[in-house]
Amino acid sequence: MSKPVLWITRKLSDATEARAARDYDVILNPEDRVFSGDEIVAMSAKVDAILPCHSEIFSADVVGRLSDRVRIIANHSVGVDHCNLPACKEHGIVVTNTPDVLSDATAEIALLLMLGAARRASEGDRLVRSGQWTTWSPSFMVGRQSTGKKLGIVGMGRVGLAVRKIVAGLDMEVHYSNRRRLPPETEAGAIYHDSVEDLLGAVDVVSLNCPSTPETMNLMNAQRFALMKPGAILVNTARGSLIDEDALIEALKSGQLFAAGLDVFKTEPGGNPELAKLDNVFLLPHIGSATRETRDAMGFRALDNLDAFFAGREPRDRLV
Ligand code: DGY
Repeated sequence: MSKPVLWITRKLSDATEARAARDYDVILNPEDRVFSGDEIVAMSAKVDAILPCHSEIFSADVVGRLSDRVRIIANHSVGVDHCNLPACKEHGIVVTNTPDVLSDATAEIALLLMLGAARRASEGDRLVRSGQWTTWSPSFMVGRQSTGKKLGIVGMGRVGLAVRKIVAGLDMEVHYSNRRRLPPETEAGAIYHDSVEDLLGAVDVVSLNCPSTPETMNLMNAQRFALMKPGAILVNTARGSLIDEDALIEALKSGQLFAAGLDVFKTEPGGNPELAKLDNVFLLPHIGSATRETRDAMGFRALDNLDAFFAGREPRDRLV
């Protein structure tokens, strides 16, 4: 029996591509170039399944023009804001994602961003690299200590829980807001707030860990920055859409925020050049899940979903 044709849109880990090539008639992208919507539509006539990353945009328009041959989009990402799920459902296309496997790697980056923002890491790095580090004194590059402070996690799902676990050594008092309060055994002493507004004024550091949806677009806007404690820190490892970046720039310039640590931006790749001009931001280029271990695990999880689908079983991470 012939194997299903699988298009892997980006260069994935060697182990993932080897397994895919063993089990599918696979089309790879060794140059790792990014495909436009029209190119995705053109390619769809040749394939039964697509394994994309968040860099491929499946808007309602693109999904509406996909060939009927495509039966499943098995994402290599937990976030699926690049896929119009109602359109996929309407066209009978199954969509899966890769939850769980990237939670720890993303929590590592949240911790790095929190500490980097609090301890002025970009500023210090720039100073040493540029050869302009000419002095030292007890008042030099004084930052904020995180140990013993209050951390507010917005969205206590898998990644939020992993962030909470990874900061345990810092003795932080953990607060959270979430659509639903967690059961006591999962909450394990974290303090629940039934609204983001209520959480913001109670904590020293805010970590955004909720998905990008129409409801969370510009979740952090001028009104909500004003609710934060003066001198608080904001960390975002989720999606750039959660933050009104103009309002963030104002909050960083006015000192309402001490600093921000950001791995995600409204415009990617590229980020926000106005944000990049500020000293009190610690910036990374969307690398929350970028570890060898996690890339393999994400690829394998996407392939597990495809294997289940083509074997006539329900894919574990089916979204529609
Ligand atoms: C995710 O999985 O959503 C990460 O942001 C990488 O795409």
